[in-house]
Amino acid sequence: MGVLLLLTSAALCSYFHSGSAGNAQNFFDIDSVELSIEPESEVHRNTNVTLRCKATVNTEGSEVLTRNYTIYKDNEMVYFKTTSSSEDFLYQLPEVRVSNNGNYKCKIDIMGKSKNSNFQALKVTGISKPVLHLNKTYMTEGEEISAWCTAPGENGKIVFYFYDNDKMIDQTDPKSNTAWVKFYPSGSGTHRIRCTYTISVTPGSFNSEESNTANVEVTEIPIHPSLEITPKNNIYEGDPLNITCTVKNGLRSSENTELLLIQNDKILSKGTTSISYSGIAQATAPDLNFVCKLKVRKVVKADKDTVSVTELFSVPTLTMSPTEVFQKDPMQLTCQSERVASERLDKNELIYRLLPHENMIHKGNGEFAGSALQNEYNYTCIVEARGIVKESKTLTIRPKVSVSIPKISASDWLILGSPFTIYCQSENGSLPITYSLWRKFEQINQTTVSQPRRGAAFPLTINNVEEINSYRCEATNGKKPVSSKGLNATVIVPLSKPSLEVIPVPADIAEGHDLYLMCRVEGTPPITFKWYRDGDQRPLNVTITNNQFQVHQIPYLSQLHSGNYSCEAVNYANIPVRSDRLYINVRMAMWKKGLIVGSCLLLVSLLLMMGCVLYYRSKRVKVDSTSVSVWSERKPEPGDEESSIMSNEPDVAYTEVVHPRSVDPTRVPLRKHTDTVYSEVQNSSHGAPDHHDYGSAEYAEFSAEHPQSSWFPPRSSLDLDLPEPVD
Ligand SMILES: *[C@@H]1O[C@H](CO)[C@@H](O)[C@H](O)[C@H]1NC(C)=O
Ligand SMILES: *[C@@H]1O[C@H](CO)[C@@H](O)[C@H](O)[C@H]1NC(C)=O
Ligand SMILES: *[C@@H]1O[C@H](CO)[C@@H](O)[C@H](O)[C@H]1NC(C)=O
Ligand SMILES: *[C@@H]1O[C@H](CO)[C@@H](O)[C@H](O)[C@H]1NC(C)=O
Repeated sequence: MGVLLLLTSAALCSYFHSGSAGNAQNFFDIDSVELSIEPESEVHRNTNVTLRCKATVNTEGSEVLTRNYTIYKDNEMVYFKTTSSSEDFLYQLPEVRVSNNGNYKCKIDIMGKSKNSNFQALKVTGISKPVLHLNKTYMTEGEEISAWCTAPGENGKIVFYFYDNDKMIDQTDPKSNTAWVKFYPSGSGTHRIRCTYTISVTPGSFNSEESNTANVEVTEIPIHPSLEITPKNNIYEGDPLNITCTVKNGLRSSENTELLLIQNDKILSKGTTSISYSGIAQATAPDLNFVCKLKVRKVVKADKDTVSVTELFSVPTLTMSPTEVFQKDPMQLTCQSERVASERLDKNELIYRLLPHENMIHKGNGEFAGSALQNEYNYTCIVEARGIVKESKTLTIRPKVSVSIPKISASDWLILGSPFTIYCQSENGSLPITYSLWRKFEQINQTTVSQPRRGAAFPLTINNVEEINSYRCEATNGKKPVSSKGLNATVIVPLSKPSLEVIPVPADIAEGHDLYLMCRVEGTPPITFKWYRDGDQRPLNVTITNNQFQVHQIPYLSQLHSGNYSCEAVNYANIPVRSDRLYINVRMAMWKKGLIVGSCLLLVSLLLMMGCVLYYRSKRVKVDSTSVSVWSERKPEPGDEESSIMSNEPDVAYTEVVHPRSVDPTRVPLRKHTDTVYSEVQNSSHGAPDHHDYGSAEYAEFSAEHPQSSWFPPRSSLDLDLPEPVD
């Protein structure tokens, strides 16, 4: 018992041991899988082909492994087999067809381990000739016939094509190697029927050769449509036309027929065996094409005829005269048929109508008179005779808008001698508008404007101030030109070079007096005046005035005021102008000079007295002839020099201005001549101040071009104009 148990357990142990060993992956290895095609990879159809899948598997033990083989064609599984044989796996392709073309692959799978082979392409050539059959060889038009086409021995994806006399009549994909179609051969005579097929493989396709030809004789149905038109010739528009469309020849009563009468693609009438049609000849096209169409079974037969119809009168044209009109202007519309068949129609039979007819009066013969409306309007006209109505094309009339009085303008400030632009524009008026620029009665320039809301721009330069108001412009858009007013603009005259003058005259300028710097220019005010002294950064004064003349006052002169003075002026022409510089030398005050002269004389008399005293003493003491003279030793001293100058030139002039303040205002403007006499200087022969005589000063106007502004105004009026002195 114990021995039996032992044996059993030993056997079990050995069983499980071998079983678990079989599952262990270490015990085998798929070395390689190879696919080959036998007898070769390029074969003709009907060859028995074998695909050989050779797998090399390395194993440790002697266990039998279960092998799963899969065959793929173009990556799609086509076969699967499980075997425990270690021999090569063979896949048979007996009697191959082109449908076997493709790329093959073999896969081996052992206990979850797998390996793929390489791809091998199989190429089969050769495709069978299709065979065609018809179910009859004689038939009448309109009957149906059946045809079969077979691709012997082929399989795969096959498409069949059927031909009747080289014209393809059908195409079908029957999913087998035989196709069946039914069709109606059209037209009598011999029909040669053939077929071909195509097999699709990957990649590409194979086309078969043509099948045998099967003939079928088709005989015509012995019935015809017949078309008759009366009259046949010399047809005029509006003439009655009688048309019949009938079935001719041995008609079998059982047959279903359908008749159609068609004119220029339009069905006029329908019937079964006969159509009678009466109508009026229309000249809608140069020729009228009639068709009588018969449908029997699947057969269509037709009889055709063409008649030409002469127009009684042509389609009218509507014209306007004049070709352009202004709003409310008179105009005439003419409706005219160019061609009238006078052999059949009297012109007087034509009736004209205008649409819309309001505002226009018919004067006969298609002529309408009236006046143009305010807005765009569409007119058409209609001519009628013998029941025939013809309408013209639409004539659109767009009345022109008269040009309004143009406005003339220029830039706000015109500068004499500089280019500027004159603008001319009318608010209203149809385009194009022609603008012309006039100076008095002379046309200067002209331009035509075609864009909306645009005016004319005329470049110009004027050299005469008065000329500006003689410019005007005219505008026209077809009628008499309309003129603007004269141009209203201000002309700025650029400033001339300023002249700078002073009061008092430069020779009379001395300490303690007031100085007046007077600047004068020619040009258009307002003018900005500036006064400068060389060396000063800023102007002494800036004044804006409407005068061409301006004064700057410097009160209570001191010698510090000496220097170069100038004035500058600028107006809207914006070209600053500057005067020449004027040197002002402020002299010492008269009382100072007097003081100096007085003290010098005192010194001289003191020296003389001292000399006399010394001389008398030396005489009395009897001095040697070798003794030195006091005079000769002292002579070079500067004090002496001054005194000697004073004594040698006793007429040294000192100037003194006679100030206007001291003059009686009623006496001031001594207007004698334009010549200047201004030499009213007090000459004191020896600097004696006691000879002052203001009242005796002669006083005349200073030089000036304009007498009215040539005299210096009284102080009271100056005070209003002059700004506060800068210094
Ligand atoms: C191909 O195999 C078939 C049998 O499967 C055989 O009848 C036929 O003769 C073989 N054809 C050729 C060319 O060997
Ligand atoms: C031939 O085929 C057509 C269409 O299928 C059929 O109408 C006709 O009766 C057939 N004719 C004969 C003789 O079988
Ligand atoms: C005139 O006819 C044209 C088209 O022919 C149309 O576009 C236009 O609006 C018409 N004008 C008026 C005022 O009816
Ligand atoms: C010219 O224009 C000015 C300023 O626009 C105006 O005051 C003056 O009345 C105008 N003169 C004329 C004649 O229109």
